[in-house]
Amino acid sequence: MNEYQNQMESYRSAVEETLNGYFTAQDLPQKRLFDAMRYSLLAGGKRIRPVLLLEFCRLCGGDWHAALPFAAAIEMVHTYSLIHDDLPCMDNDDYRRGRLTNHKVFGEANAVLAGDGLLTAAFETLCTAKTGADVIVREVGILSGAAGELGMVGGQVLDLAGEDMVLTEDEVHTIHDLKTSALIRAACQMGVAAAGGTQAQMDAARDYAQALGMAFQIRDDMLDVLGDAEKMGKKTGMDEHKNTFVTLYGVGKCSQLVEQYTKRACAALSIFDDAQFLDQLAARLALREY
Ligand code: IPE
Ligand code: IPE
Ligand code: MG
Ligand code: MG
Ligand code: MG
Repeated sequence: MNEYQNQMESYRSAVEETLNGYFTAQDLPQKRLFDAMRYSLLAGGKRIRPVLLLEFCRLCGGDWHAALPFAAAIEMVHTYSLIHDDLPCMDNDDYRRGRLTNHKVFGEANAVLAGDGLLTAAFETLCTAKTGADVIVREVGILSGAAGELGMVGGQVLDLAGEDMVLTEDEVHTIHDLKTSALIRAACQMGVAAAGGTQAQMDAARDYAQALGMAFQIRDDMLDVLGDAEKMGKKTGMDEHKNTFVTLYGVGKCSQLVEQYTKRACAALSIFDDAQFLDQLAARLALREY
């Protein structure tokens, strides 16, 4: 394994181990809720958001191990967003992370509640970090701002409202920025905050994440057309009613856009002298197949 792969493996295994420690109670009457929460949380997933958080913490001189509760919290919010995104009233998907979607196994009501449980537990988890209260307050502020009506939830509403409509590039850009970049931006900025980083580092994290998030969602839209469902663990061809950059421009132009946004993301890292991991992560995500 090269240095990048080693670091990625350290982050991912620490995140998996941390996540595996939550919602383990077996003796409560609402055990089915715990099972539903763990079913989606521990189904794999690339863990991009926690990894970004931990790497920005390390890059800004923090102890990334101490930031694991923050990393777990953002993955809980992301997983909740996926459970709800897959519901029949939203994208109506049957597969996620290589298995049946949460509502297919536990029923719609339990899937809604598993999402609610994960969202709420995320904020409880932030509060368990062994850091100063001032850091925890910043983490809560960043995550709640990004997840809510001015962030991911707002983007999901626009995504659904735009189905079967012709939107402009600016409108699609806004949808992607809110529904996907917002949480990626939160991940990077939560990493900086965990390390007590500077305003310049916060701004760099924001700019990197903004561009990376756009590249990430455009690639996601491309994979809906080009991807292999087996590899991705979710069905392809699901975006026909959606407004994506692929609907606007086709896949060829989208490849160029992914490349441009990836370059822009990497350029934002110039204030750091040790940003190889984040450079490589962006380059790999641009070509990802799942
Ligand atoms: C899927 O996110 C939803 C989008 C924002 C495109 P990921 O591609 O990060 O999904 P997992 O966590 O790896 O399953
Ligand atoms: C999802 O976007 C963004 C979220 C906030 C979950 P998509 O609807 O394109 O994600 P997939 O393709 O279902 O993973
Ligand atoms: Mg969706
Ligand atoms: Mg979807
Ligand atoms: Mg998609």
